[in-house]
Amino acid sequence: MMKTILVLNGPNLNMLGLREPEVYGSETLADVEQTCREYGGGLGLVIEFQQTNHEGQMIEWIHHARRRIAGIVINPGAWTHTSAAIHDALIAAEVPVIEVHISNVHRREDFRHFSYVSRVAKGVLAGFGTDGYRMAIQHYASSLEQSNA
Ligand code: DQA
Repeated sequence: MMKTILVLNGPNLNMLGLREPEVYGSETLADVEQTCREYGGGLGLVIEFQQTNHEGQMIEWIHHARRRIAGIVINPGAWTHTSAAIHDALIAAEVPVIEVHISNVHRREDFRHFSYVSRVAKGVLAGFGTDGYRMAIQHYASSLEQSNA
């Protein structure tokens, strides 16, 4: 059976392409979604792709991943730096997590240097632009292949 990777995007990421293009680039979230689907599909993975500006909705999607999803890729946006609730939800889901940031948060304001999500993430990709999503999917493809071998 094909394994599913859940790609989650937090607040303001629906504004990708319009919002601070000097920081986040000119691609839209729809472009990122298409790339993830094509790239994941080519590696034999099904990609579920979601974005929300509502923290409760994000928590529901994370809970629903439990026992269903092989890996989560999450760009939690500003909730990275504020949300103990998302941290707790990711633990409750018991699904591997890769944290992605389009920008290199460590080169930016101090408040972006702390992440609640990194504590529960297998790995973190920051500063690779939207390539970070593909890199995370690629990691799941190779680690799932190894676990099936
Ligand atoms: C971001 C970085 C966060 O600090 C910011 O709040 C975002 C986007 C990134 O992808 O670089 O919304 O997660």
